[in-house]
Amino acid sequence: MIKMNDERVLHEFETYLEHCFDHLPASRTKEAMKYSLLAPGKRVRPMLLFGALDDYGMDYHQGFAFGAAIEMIHTYSLIHDDMPEMDNDDWRRGRLACHKQFGVDVALLAGDSLQSLAFEQLAKIDDVNQVAKLCLLLAQKIGANGMCYGQDLDLKANQNTTLEQLIEIETYKTGCLIALPLMGAAILAHDETSVAKWEQIGHLLGIQFQIQDDLLEITSSVSAIGKSLSDQKNDKATALNFFSLEEGQAKVQQYKQDIQALLTQLSIQTPSIGMMIEQLSTRTK
Ligand code: IPE
Ligand code: IPE
Ligand code: MG
Ligand code: MG
Repeated sequence: MIKMNDERVLHEFETYLEHCFDHLPASRTKEAMKYSLLAPGKRVRPMLLFGALDDYGMDYHQGFAFGAAIEMIHTYSLIHDDMPEMDNDDWRRGRLACHKQFGVDVALLAGDSLQSLAFEQLAKIDDVNQVAKLCLLLAQKIGANGMCYGQDLDLKANQNTTLEQLIEIETYKTGCLIALPLMGAAILAHDETSVAKWEQIGHLLGIQFQIQDDLLEITSSVSAIGKSLSDQKNDKATALNFFSLEEGQAKVQQYKQDIQALLTQLSIQTPSIGMMIEQLSTRTK
């Protein structure tokens, strides 16, 4: 079984990430890409991929290329999310946000280039059929019908946003990148018939993850979670517009149960993902 905080897996994956830049010429963009990607992120999305592969009886190393691709896209989304034109946040992953450290111009390019580097990662996968499928999946989940769509909706969110709209925002801006590793694992394991079920699980997990993120805005601190807390400043609708802290925590538990019920509908046992869902449900950062 692989746990979310498995030191060995995390260490190996970190080493893998460090070498993803070796072929790039020296530039400020490269420095900024490394600065943000190699900062201490939790690596939740790649770990979900490794957990799902483990549940399929596969070697988690087979997910390193796709896991790196997802983490690169996630990091690019954070770099752009923090920029003044979006959330205007100064702190990320315990460091100055990329644009504060390198300037908005270089941060923009670093985000763009992490996206390109993500697609480059796919070429490391041997089976060209899988490369084609993962490439399409990645493109669909991150763009104007995926994560970016959610970010677009999020920019317009305000105190008039309804709960239904908030769930739609969260499904896209967070759920898409959380569904990606689970759906990708099914493709890598040649279990195509389960991709839609994993998508459903990933979207629910994304909503749960984002509700927790909203709750952490009031229960945590900048130093504890290593990033700026800007929802109030930006007048954003969050879970706290609709729930008290206690109700929000109850919602998180309810999502956990719904996810666990969906897991039992898969064709495989899921001890690793089951454990990760438990761990994520009580996360404090
Ligand atoms: C932050 O994601 C953005 C959200 C979708 C809430 P994470 O909480 O996974 O951030 P890192 O990767 O650990 O920095
Ligand atoms: C980030 O959402 C989602 C993406 C970057 C796609 P938020 O703006 O709510 O998350 P934080 O609080 O900045 O991490
Ligand atoms: Mg945002
Ligand atoms: Mg933000």
